[in-house]
Amino acid sequence: MIFAGIVAGGSGTRMKNAAMPKQFIRVLDKPIIIYTVEKFVKQKHIDRIYIGIKPDWHGVMDQLLEEYGIDTQRVRVIDGGSDRNDTVMKIVAAVKTEFDIKKGDIIITHDAVRPFLTDTMIEENIIGALKYSACGTYLKCVDTVVSSHDGETVDGSLDRSKLYRAQTPQSFDITLLDEYYNRLDESRKSRLTDTCSIFTEAGHKIHIIPGDTVNIKITTDSDLIIAKLLATRV
Ligand code: CTP
Repeated sequence: MIFAGIVAGGSGTRMKNAAMPKQFIRVLDKPIIIYTVEKFVKQKHIDRIYIGIKPDWHGVMDQLLEEYGIDTQRVRVIDGGSDRNDTVMKIVAAVKTEFDIKKGDIIITHDAVRPFLTDTMIEENIIGALKYSACGTYLKCVDTVVSSHDGETVDGSLDRSKLYRAQTPQSFDITLLDEYYNRLDESRKSRLTDTCSIFTEAGHKIHIIPGDTVNIKITTDSDLIIAKLLATRV
C-alpha cells in the first residue's frame, strides 16, 4: 500500500509576524496547507493521506478541508508530535492502527509548508521508495558553503560538488522506518532534523530524487513574499 504523511504539527516560531502557525496562513486565496493537501489528493494511487497537526487545530483543519472542497475519503487528520519526526512517527502509528502493514508498503512524508512540490516529485518518490526502500528529494548545492567555529571568522569551505540541500518528500518502506526509529535512543532521536537521517543512522543509504528550487520551505516572513509569486504559477 502507499501512504502519505503530511507533517503540519509545527508552530512556525521563525515566522515573526504571523498570528497563526504558518501552514494555515493564506497565500493569495488559499491556506498553505491546502495547496499541499491538494497535490497529494490528486494522486489516485495513494491509498491514505494522513495530516499530523496540533490538537487544537483539528476544528480549523476540518473546516478548511470542507471549504476548499477536498475529497476527504482517503484523508485522516491526526494529532502531531513534539518534533517533526515525532509527528512522522505518530502518523506511522495511526497507519498501523488502521492497516496491517507489511514489507513493501511505503510512506511518502512531506512538510505541509512546502506547497509547491511537483507531481513528478511525488511520482518519483513512490518509485524510489518501492525500489530502494528509502529516498529523499535533494537539490545540488549552488552556493559555496563555509564553516566557522567561532561565528565571527570563516575557517574553511566544503567541497560543493558533494553537497546537497535536503527537501521533502522523503519516502520509505514503512516497516523499516518503524524498526529503525525504535532502535534509536532518546538523545539521538532529538538530534535528527529530518526523517532520512533515521535511515542513514541505521547505515541505510538514501536514493536521490531531484528537487527543485520552487519546492521552498516556507520558514520566515520573507518566504511568504516568494510564496505569493510562486502561487500565481499554480
Ligand atoms: N512539524 C510537525 N510537528 C512538529 C514540528 C514541525 O509536523 N512538532 C512540521 C511543520 O509543521 C512543518 C515541517 O514540520 O510543516 C517543517 O518544520 P519547520 O519548518 O521547522 O516548521 P515549524 O516547526 O513550524 O517552524 P519553526 O521551527 O520556525 O518553529
